[in-house]
Amino acid sequence: MRNLPSYEELLSGLSWSLAERELGYQPGEPLNIGWMCSDRICRLGQADKLALIWEDYLGNEKRFTFDDLRVLSNTIASFLVELGIQPGERVCLFLDRVPELYIGFVGILKTGAVAQPLFSAFGDESLFVRLADAKTSAIITQKKHLHKVRKIREELPELRHIIVVDAGDSPLQAREVAFRMEQAPRVENFAVYPTTAESPSVLHYTSGTTGQPKGAQHVHYSIVSQYLTAKIVLDLRPDDTYWCNADPGWVTGTSYGIVGPWSNGITQVVLDSGFNAERWYEFLAKRRVTVWYSAPTAIRLLMKEGTDLPRKHDLSSLRYLASVGEPLNGEAVIWSEEAFGKPFHDTFWQTETGSIVITNFPGMPIKPGSMGKPFPGITATVLNPRTYEPVSQPGVAGLIALRPGWPSQFRYYWRNEAGFQAKFKNGWYLCGDRASLDADGYFWFMGRDDDVINTGGHLVGPFEIESALLEHPAVYESAAVAKPDPVNMEVVKAYVTLKRGYEPSPDLELEIMNRIRKRLSPLAMPQEIEFVDSLPKTRSGKIVRRILRCKEFHEPVGDLSTVMNE
Ligand code: WT7
Repeated sequence: MRNLPSYEELLSGLSWSLAERELGYQPGEPLNIGWMCSDRICRLGQADKLALIWEDYLGNEKRFTFDDLRVLSNTIASFLVELGIQPGERVCLFLDRVPELYIGFVGILKTGAVAQPLFSAFGDESLFVRLADAKTSAIITQKKHLHKVRKIREELPELRHIIVVDAGDSPLQAREVAFRMEQAPRVENFAVYPTTAESPSVLHYTSGTTGQPKGAQHVHYSIVSQYLTAKIVLDLRPDDTYWCNADPGWVTGTSYGIVGPWSNGITQVVLDSGFNAERWYEFLAKRRVTVWYSAPTAIRLLMKEGTDLPRKHDLSSLRYLASVGEPLNGEAVIWSEEAFGKPFHDTFWQTETGSIVITNFPGMPIKPGSMGKPFPGITATVLNPRTYEPVSQPGVAGLIALRPGWPSQFRYYWRNEAGFQAKFKNGWYLCGDRASLDADGYFWFMGRDDDVINTGGHLVGPFEIESALLEHPAVYESAAVAKPDPVNMEVVKAYVTLKRGYEPSPDLELEIMNRIRKRLSPLAMPQEIEFVDSLPKTRSGKIVRRILRCKEFHEPVGDLSTVMNE
């Protein structure tokens, strides 16, 4: 076992300028993420190292070295340039997790254009809103998704090119053009566009758990944060086989599913298939995955299947596990210790932060249920919601806030200056989440601002309630939301889904209530438990409490374009 540096050692040894030096970047010089992730790795003598091992749901496999990545991204880049795509224009990636998605991302950035990945399961309306907002010039897609693009293109005059990566002999229509990445003449040399630190790079639409989706614009300098956090927080080492199971339609899938690993010259594996516990364990075992970056929604699904299933597979290759997207309940950490012999490390960040900002580091003792501490170089605190001054006592909840200025911070929201300005108060960037800090400087997540429950003037976060519920063996998932109350203004109501083999009943409700009563303050105790078959979630897997809350208050729910099962 390597001796891992302590948090204090990390704090004194790390800096963004160290990352710049390691990347060979001199401030003021051109900086291009696409080049950094491919050409640079080849120049470091790793041209023949595998960059991507791809597998689809049938088990078909493709392998690409860093030299393949360099040449094929050149090939895509020169195709785009020949079509007339200009630096700064938005090129949308609307693809399943096929190799063209990962390599296309690198290719788009090499031309100086902006990569705009969108989740391929989006329907035409969700796609339309985001392409219209960004005035996107081109979209790269597959035959199977073409009908959605065809339905909306007449309303998208700016969308000049619809590029189909698997057109075959299918007849194409106006503005459509076929491009086969692996059959196209390989472009050995491409003049990478000399973007600089502040040139726009990636445009991500936030998953929109609340309100309208917002387009968060990132710049090429973001690689400095993504490179360093991937190396330190995800503990990536040269011989690793890394799996990030997030879709590049969300920021996790680009910051840590493309830029983080490839800028570190790490081999990554991709499974282009939906969730299935057995299949996932098979994949982890077959690919000998060493570092796995996942999400609570997936971990809960695995927990539901129990610990026997992982024991049937040889998962001894796994060295490091990390999670993002929602609060990681203490119960999930304890379960992963049981199932894999190691804990999941929580990482907190957002589309807007571009990289991990608060986290449990490899060398740091984990407190199950806590998000950990700020990444070195990030100044994070908890603010009093009225004064916007840092809360001075430990244990007092407030707004999670960051000092602006880290490299991967988003630079603006597309056409939403007011929304952007509203994120900053008193010299702080507000994440829109609440937490408290303990005496050791660990952050304890409470809930999203909008999900906090105000009962008789006391604020209660859904996270502690849901964590307590999850400890009951019958509970699969839960969502604690506010419900109107004549006396206390709001009280807590819990929606609960059950694991296989359990049936809803008044007795079970009582039993769950009795058990959590020992864990929760009277204020946080749900007044009611409603058993449901499923909870509303975003396509990225987050529970959308807002919908349940609106139901309780008989209010309209607003934008639902990213919600999956409503
Ligand atoms: C929101 C950001 C960044 C990756 C994917 C989501 C919630 C994220 C955690 C965590 C508690 C978390 C927050 C945050 N969130 N990670 N470790 N613990 N909450 O990106 O769609 O922009 O969502 O996800 O509410 O603000 P996103």
